[in-house]
Amino acid sequence: MAEKIKTIAVLTSGGDAPGMNAAIRAVVRKALNNGVAVKGIKKGYMGLLNEEIVDMNATSVSDTIQRGGTILGTARCPEFKEDAVQQKAADICKKHGIDGLVVIGGDGSYRGAQALAAHGINTIGIPGTIDLDISCTDYTIGFDTAVNTAMQAIDKVRDTSSSHERCSIIEVMGRNAGYIALWCGVANGAEDILLPEKYDFNEQVLVNNIIANRKIGKTHHLIINAEGIGHSTSMARRIEAATGIETRATILGYMQRGGSPTCKDRYYASIMGAYAADILLEGKTNRCVCYRKGEFMDMDIDEALAMEKTIDPYQFEVSRLLSRNENTDKSK
Ligand code: ADP
Ligand code: F6P
Repeated sequence: MAEKIKTIAVLTSGGDAPGMNAAIRAVVRKALNNGVAVKGIKKGYMGLLNEEIVDMNATSVSDTIQRGGTILGTARCPEFKEDAVQQKAADICKKHGIDGLVVIGGDGSYRGAQALAAHGINTIGIPGTIDLDISCTDYTIGFDTAVNTAMQAIDKVRDTSSSHERCSIIEVMGRNAGYIALWCGVANGAEDILLPEKYDFNEQVLVNNIIANRKIGKTHHLIINAEGIGHSTSMARRIEAATGIETRATILGYMQRGGSPTCKDRYYASIMGAYAADILLEGKTNRCVCYRKGEFMDMDIDEALAMEKTIDPYQFEVSRLLSRNENTDKSK
């Protein structure tokens, strides 16, 4: 442990994600266990600029692991992209004796952490986003809970869709990434899965598919549409007009970001929180915690942000095959 680190801080930034509390709890308790004081910064970078900084002890994080959201609050702070604002934030950290900072958030939040590191504050990022869109890691806090929440909601829509013999377009979150749509599409047995990374905007394909499925006796037709494509309501109107089949749109929205975290999100977030505290106390900076190929590890934030993530081609191919039952059987 580097001797000069006496106090660290933790904040959550960007969209909240179930499991963030488990990560905060682990950062706090692991650092305290290493003899280092911990401060909590409320409402992300906005709260840092407003000096909303509180002391944390082991009981500050009691009774939080099972709770959704983030006990520290979160915010978007667009002005944090400005160098003068980043300098002010670094000065505030120094004023409060904060030698190191753990930032829990998505890649936007990582850019803020990178900037603070450049201004002399040791920073470590932890991937916290339901979107799973951070390239350097196979796991992000909140994704598992979000897909389970969405999956359960979609099962319910499927029931009523079947009873009424309707087509349903269900829009899931994910910003510009299609991971929530892909996972739910497969897990819910959707007939069509629309991913921003792959969709060609050819609605005639959807129309033909709906008509073909109706001919073979399917009573429902589920289309999982990613937020990055959007426009589910107008898409439903056009599809109903073209097929003559009643079509409804459901936008799941913020329910996907809330709720009690799954075991996986609590467990992985706990390990990542502890890991972040440890490497911060070793004197590392401008690093982020990742989970890659079955291992927890850390990586340089610059390198992490330069990486690209794509939908795995094999998984995509399987998702398409499983959604089209008229194409499945080639045994005859
Ligand atoms: P996420 O962290 O989930 O990707 P955002 O993209 O909204 O969410 O980023 C969260 C916050 O991180 C922003 O509101 C801003 O304060 C900060 N941030 C985003 N991009 C940058 C950047 N290029 N430089 C510095 N800070 C940034
Ligand atoms: O990044 C998480 C997320 O929920 C995205 O899926 C979505 O696009 C975005 O945040 C919504 O952000 P806001 O809370 O600012 O509306």
